[in-house]
Amino acid sequence: MLPSSISLKVLTLKLTSLLSHCILLQVFNTGDPFTENNSVINSKFMERAVLDYYAELWNAKWPHDENDGESYWGYITPMGASEANIYALWNARDYLSGKLSAAEAGIFKHVAENSNAYNPVLLSSGSKHYSFPKGCAILGLGTVIEIPVDATGAVRIEDLTKAAEFYASQGHPIIICFNYGSTVNGAYDDVARACEALKPILEKYNLFERDLVYENEAGEIKKSIRRAGYWVHVDGAFGSSYMPFIEMAHSRGMIGAKGPTFDFRLPMVSSISSSEQKFTGVPVPTGILMSKVKFQIIADSPPEYIGGRPTLSGTRNGLAPMLLWNSIARNSYDDKIKKALAIQETAEYMEKKLRNLQDIDVKRNPLSLTLRFKCPNNDICKKYSLWADNVNGSFYTNVFAMEHVSKELIDALFEDLSAPDAFKR
Ligand SMILES: *Cc1c(COP(=O)(O)O)cnc(C)c1O
Ligand SMILES: *[C@@H]1O[C@H](CO)[C@@H](O)[C@H](O)[C@H]1NC(C)=O
Ligand SMILES: *[C@@H]1O[C@H](CO)[C@@H](O)[C@H](O)[C@H]1NC(C)=O
Repeated sequence: MLPSSISLKVLTLKLTSLLSHCILLQVFNTGDPFTENNSVINSKFMERAVLDYYAELWNAKWPHDENDGESYWGYITPMGASEANIYALWNARDYLSGKLSAAEAGIFKHVAENSNAYNPVLLSSGSKHYSFPKGCAILGLGTVIEIPVDATGAVRIEDLTKAAEFYASQGHPIIICFNYGSTVNGAYDDVARACEALKPILEKYNLFERDLVYENEAGEIKKSIRRAGYWVHVDGAFGSSYMPFIEMAHSRGMIGAKGPTFDFRLPMVSSISSSEQKFTGVPVPTGILMSKVKFQIIADSPPEYIGGRPTLSGTRNGLAPMLLWNSIARNSYDDKIKKALAIQETAEYMEKKLRNLQDIDVKRNPLSLTLRFKCPNNDICKKYSLWADNVNGSFYTNVFAMEHVSKELIDALFEDLSAPDAFKR
């Protein structure tokens, strides 16, 4: 029997016998998935196959090719989307602050006409995930501006462009972090429209593309490097591995709506993260970080035995890519479209059912897999693994339409929420 959780993690517990014996193996993927080394017990070949799959899903250029800057680079993170988000911030900071490769950094220093030119400012959605403040604290990203969100929880593009213009006019490079499926509202930022609005501003202040100038100690040898003066990251922890299947369903006429475009079809997108224990249902924390070869700087040379580019974690869980590979191998696009539509239906059922309850302030965005409402008492929360989110003294909770959530489970929750003391806190 499955526990009665309606939280953000999938409980399917369907391990095949092939994979259950792998749990007892010690499989570690250390360092860059695209470099092999003497440690032979790894699953990097499966990791690369998974990354190719997501590169195709997110319309990145694949396969990975070290000599093609437009092709993708990425890795599977053992610490979920949080690690992917923090890696993206790290990468963005080093790229925008003009950092050079380890070999060149000892020789060249940048020449700054404006001291802001190498000092990135982060503009993030007001409904950002808590991995961003953590990342900023670790990385020392000092200037972080929260952009207000609209009633759905999506970032307000007029406010975003206003803030971007303010900082761009002072010469700051800009990191913009979007949500594609915010945790508490399931809000999808309109990344396509926002990029369109940001582009002329970046061009106006010479940040769309800029030449960074360096010279050696004696000041006699100069070099310049062309880089973008912005970084667009999409936190797709909740939505990036789910919404592409809704888009496919939409193009086949199976559903009336789809989300805004968020992926590498937009040339301004620099990196995307995802969390694979959510929609996909991998039973261990697993995230994906995907970017492009041209943005990668090997700023600190990793030891020889790792090779390639450093990852944020050191020794990585080699089982996670195998579990994800297994899930992909067993589920075609058709299967995933079916699953996406089924859980969408579950979310609609959940919404319809809970709207029958008075005064619990049910909120759900279009195509969202989560429903937010007034938090019930602790017994009910414990029974269904629900959080109690304190917003200025009022408590809210969320339920999530994950694969294992059945109508029976929702009906049972509804019964419990109908009890007279259900909301007594
Ligand atoms: C879940 C989530 C994260 C973090 O993912 P983990 O895999 O738990 O690290 C980041 N951003 C959003 C929007 C999320 O929903
Ligand atoms: C290990 O990685 C380093 C750095 O990429 C490389 O020089 C070396 O040849 C690799 N060793 C093997 C056995 O692949
Ligand atoms: C909480 O209250 C403060 C002070 O009244 C207010 O500024 C803030 O917007 C409120 N936060 C929310 C999420 O309502």
